[in-house]
Amino acid sequence: MKDLVFDLIKQEKTRQEEGLELIPSENYVSPAVLAGMGSILTNKYSEGYPSFEGIPGWDEEKIASEVLPNYRYYGGQQNVDRIERLAISRACQLFHADHANVQPHSGAQANNAVYFAWLEPGDTVLGMSLPAGGHLTHGASVTQSAKVYHFVNYGVTKDGDIDYDELKSLAKKHHPKIILVGYSAFMKIPDFARVVKIRDDLSKETGEEILLMADMAHVAGLIAGGVHPNPLDYGFNVMTTTTHKTLRGPRGGLILTKGNVASPLKKPEKTLKNIPILIDRAVFPGTQGGPLEHIIAAKAIAFGEALKPEFKNYAKNIIENAKSLAEALKKEGFILQGDGTENHLILVDIKKSFDIDGKFYEQALDQIGLTLNANALPSDPSGSFRPSGVRLGTPAMTTRGLGEAEMSQIATWMKKVAIICQKAGSLENLTDYHNQLESLHSEVRTLALKFPLPN
Ligand SMILES: Cc1ncc(COP(=O)(O)O)c(C=O)c1O
Repeated sequence: MKDLVFDLIKQEKTRQEEGLELIPSENYVSPAVLAGMGSILTNKYSEGYPSFEGIPGWDEEKIASEVLPNYRYYGGQQNVDRIERLAISRACQLFHADHANVQPHSGAQANNAVYFAWLEPGDTVLGMSLPAGGHLTHGASVTQSAKVYHFVNYGVTKDGDIDYDELKSLAKKHHPKIILVGYSAFMKIPDFARVVKIRDDLSKETGEEILLMADMAHVAGLIAGGVHPNPLDYGFNVMTTTTHKTLRGPRGGLILTKGNVASPLKKPEKTLKNIPILIDRAVFPGTQGGPLEHIIAAKAIAFGEALKPEFKNYAKNIIENAKSLAEALKKEGFILQGDGTENHLILVDIKKSFDIDGKFYEQALDQIGLTLNANALPSDPSGSFRPSGVRLGTPAMTTRGLGEAEMSQIATWMKKVAIICQKAGSLENLTDYHNQLESLHSEVRTLALKFPLPN
């Protein structure tokens, strides 16, 4: 009997082809990345690590041909070792890191491993609050890490920038072991140098080492493409990221570090210099078991793609499209958090713009094939289930080749749906507007089909 799952995958493919993906954390991978993920490497167990000898060295031919002794717990590693070494080498090159751990199964796993590597239970982390744009893993009370560690959160100013004064005064007051800059809904470029100075001044005062961590899950592709500053270039010790957002790789996590690289078998002293190996030990055996070598292969392929000159152009176009979309939305009467964007993300205050809530609007847009997500705004009075905002972005649209004209068209459709929502007042009442929504859906489908998926 044919597995029903394949029918559903087919339906999902049609949904992706016929719709426009505006969720800023999603993208379309290349056929090569997809092939790596779907490969027989999924059959292999490889707990532990390959040799780190010679990486970073960027000599790919050498890495691909050299079989070296490793730190693994299973036999038969000669091929996966070389694949993982290529992934590490390319990640280091892409992000100017001394070392990379390519094994985290996800962004959340990557962040948890960093906490586990550097903190003791009860230690303090200073990060951006969830409502201000931070991520759940930066201290939201529903997470496991918030039960183990003590999180203190800074917010954003009225114009949507990090409140650096608050960050500084909270750091002085709470003496965090980690200062974390990272976010899922923040449209500015962080002033990494300013955060490094805050850390350095405090370290001098207290004599304590403070780890500077950047969670660049959203903007890693922009950093790789050279259109966004790289926190590791400014003195951050660790950068975590997902590999599937702007970076356009498989779903997964990645940890990049500055410091000494050594054997993971010997427990090193807990110093910032030793952070690369402290983190390797925290990923395996600290928080994960066997690595997903098929995903690591796909990460290596994606990093290879991001190292190509074309990727710089892609990253530049993501930002140009986001700025065009932000301007077009403003022209249509949408009010944007921070009045625009400096990266790939846009946060719309849909409550203030059209007096509808974010969830209702998200569901209505779904009906015409425009996909985005409801999102709380900083200090949102409406809570996270029916927030006042929606979040959207341009990485996926840019991969498909959409440009300025299409961004303007999307803003027009969004305005039309906002007006329909205003009139309908509830999701149930949208049935009264079925014909109008169907006609918009058909327009979206026609445009989407002009820009085929890469895979
Ligand atoms: C800033 C940030 N960190 C971490 C994560 C978690 O990544 P994952 O969903 O792969 O666990 C996300 C995901 O949205 C994110 O935006």
